Amino acid sequence: MSIEMSPNEALIGRTDVDDLEAILSVTNTDVGELVHTVADNADAIFTWDYEKGKRPALNKLYEKAKTSQWNGETDLPWDTDVDQEQVVMANAAAGGGFEEGIDLAGTGFEHWGDAEWIQMGIESQNWTLSQFLHGEQGALLCTAKIVETVPWIDAKYYASTQVMDEARHVEVFAKYLDTKLTGHYPVNAHLKMLLDDIIADSRWDMTYLGMQIMVEGLALAAFGFIHQLTTEPLLKQLLRYVMSDEARHVAFGVLSLKEYYGELSQAEIRERQEFAFEAAVRMRDRFLQQEVWERMGIQPAKVLPLVLASPQRALFQQMLFTKIVPNCKKLGLLDAGDGWLRQRFGELGVIQFEDWQDTGEEYEAFALAEGEVESSTA
Ligand SMILES: [Fe+2]
Ligand SMILES: [Fe+2]
Repeated sequence: MSIEMSPNEALIGRTDVDDLEAILSVTNTDVGELVHTVADNADAIFTWDYEKGKRPALNKLYEKAKTSQWNGETDLPWDTDVDQEQVVMANAAAGGGFEEGIDLAGTGFEHWGDAEWIQMGIESQNWTLSQFLHGEQGALLCTAKIVETVPWIDAKYYASTQVMDEARHVEVFAKYLDTKLTGHYPVNAHLKMLLDDIIADSRWDMTYLGMQIMVEGLALAAFGFIHQLTTEPLLKQLLRYVMSDEARHVAFGVLSLKEYYGELSQAEIRERQEFAFEAAVRMRDRFLQQEVWERMGIQPAKVLPLVLASPQRALFQQMLFTKIVPNCKKLGLLDAGDGWLRQRFGELGVIQFEDWQDTGEEYEAFALAEGEVESSTA
């Protein structure tokens, strides 16, 4: 990093985190490709210390995971009929209308009627579920990497159960998109950049920080938000099941890094703070869903300032950080050094969540109740 460069420029490629032009200039350039290759730069680690339960919290999580598996094919009510248009209207009615408090005057699309707003809602669902799908594949790859790179046997055991969980998540989101919705979107450029950065980092704990703490922390909050709001029963149940797994995954990150960060130097911790900030910004950028506006024939640069100014949008954006901030605090990342990350989260407008419940133990509350999983023999 050069001396003249501001920290923001070095980390996220722009000085002002809200620089919309810079955000929109990042686009996915290989949307036509069937595969995407990233060098993962890491050593595979054997351990000869097989003592199970040396890390009791991880061992407990592993035992919990073994008895919490569900079957994406047989445990969800796939025979549910999903009328996407009807879902969009019902969700809008429940949320108080289509325009989300945005003032459309003078924007060029104040003429939009219900038909356009419904189409927008449908595209938005297709986009949202597509990004969840791509993020789940990111989790699958990251966790397979952790099986190889983490030096502790209890963590290798646990991570192997998460690999299975993530395969199931990819499977059910793909099936939902293919059989219930009306189109896919390629991976969002900001999400892709983040996933690439996480996979490419050679340090095993950075995989955890990027995936288990940041991406999955956000996913847990976002799934919870949509689970609460959606009027579509199949998606509601699908998210309920996925969240019961995700809560364990985030706990895995918190419990593993809590131990490891105790051994790191101030300079090493600072690198973790910077990585957490970069990930937070990428995830915020991705939720602008610029590709949806493009597909609707509206220039994102025209409409996004209005979207960003709406109070509902601000609430949604903040809500995404309700798990991440308390977990970063628990890991000591907020206040380490000169409190660098505390200040950054303050600038992003999310520091107020620091004393919300962290996810180290919360997975117990998310667990599926006895009998909640439908019988696979049905
Ligand atoms: Fe997942
Ligand atoms: Fe996960």
